[in-house]
Amino acid sequence: MGYQKIFHVFRGQPGFFEKMTNLIKWKNHHIEDVEVNLLLNALKERYGYDFTGYARASLKRRLSALMLDFSVERLSQLIPIVLYDVSAAQKVICGISVPTSDFFRDPKIWAYLRSTILPQLASFPRINIWQAGCGHGEEAYSLAIMLHETGLLKRSRIFSSDINPLFLEQARAGRWPLRNQNYWSDNYKLAGGSADFSDYVVVKNNELAIADELKLQLEFIQHNLVVDDVFKEMQLVVCRNVLIYFGNTLQEHVVLLLARSLERGGYLLLGNGENIVQLSQIHPQLEQLDSSLQLYRKRIGVY
Ligand SMILES: C[S@@+](CC[C@H](N)C(=O)[O-])C[C@H]1O[C@@H](n2cnc3c(N)ncnc32)[C@H](O)[C@@H]1O
Repeated sequence: MGYQKIFHVFRGQPGFFEKMTNLIKWKNHHIEDVEVNLLLNALKERYGYDFTGYARASLKRRLSALMLDFSVERLSQLIPIVLYDVSAAQKVICGISVPTSDFFRDPKIWAYLRSTILPQLASFPRINIWQAGCGHGEEAYSLAIMLHETGLLKRSRIFSSDINPLFLEQARAGRWPLRNQNYWSDNYKLAGGSADFSDYVVVKNNELAIADELKLQLEFIQHNLVVDDVFKEMQLVVCRNVLIYFGNTLQEHVVLLLARSLERGGYLLLGNGENIVQLSQIHPQLEQLDSSLQLYRKRIGVY
């Protein structure tokens, strides 16, 4: 239906102007696949960031938001901007790779880690953990707190990685806005925390800052799951709420990468919503521990 016809349908109805304005905005922000391909190729060729295997529907939602930020009516207008303006490109890259996270996000799985998985890991002389897609570091420090409380932190090493160097910088600093403090404190309790969340964070310059001791066993590393290699001989690999942004082929590639990084008997934890169909077919050595949790173990036997 063209604008003129719609104009006649809605004319005189309540909210007429709002409806027309939203419609014009939506029409102008319609994104064509060819524009997405060209923009993604520009980011890949110029900066080495390959988002071509990401799931299209959610990618388009994030690109739509970026178009509003940059006040452009067509996605293709962003192509020369990212090609010739490095800081604009960085903004687009950040807009595509969303760092949303929380301390002890989905507390039930953290409670399970504490009660069931960490006691198993305690039998290893050294505990190597790869936490992929760390965003601003909330999950990495949640792991550090839990390892500290179970007496395992000193013989653990947590490698936290992300594609985005700006997120890694924030994660290394270990500072977040104050607004989430109560929510994170509740999550910590629900996850079986044995002390008080405020024991691990201090308020500094109107921000929440993590205690320095929790940084000692943590290393933040730039790593791109699309193109970079495995981490070797990990006892636990945590990659939550990252695969949901990927298309099927890329999900398969990344599951293999994560599984190959695990030592036999090691654990792989994915995000709650990441029920990857055929995961055990992608890597037959992975067995799901509990059908209600996205937690897998790499079998010990030879296959
Ligand atoms: C939604 S956050 C997940 C944060 C945390 N794991 C959690 O579950 O709370 C997704 C993170 O994955 C990162 N990411 C996206 N694509 C990536 C890639 N190809 N390689 C590594 N990290 C990636 C993003 O930069 C972002 O920080």
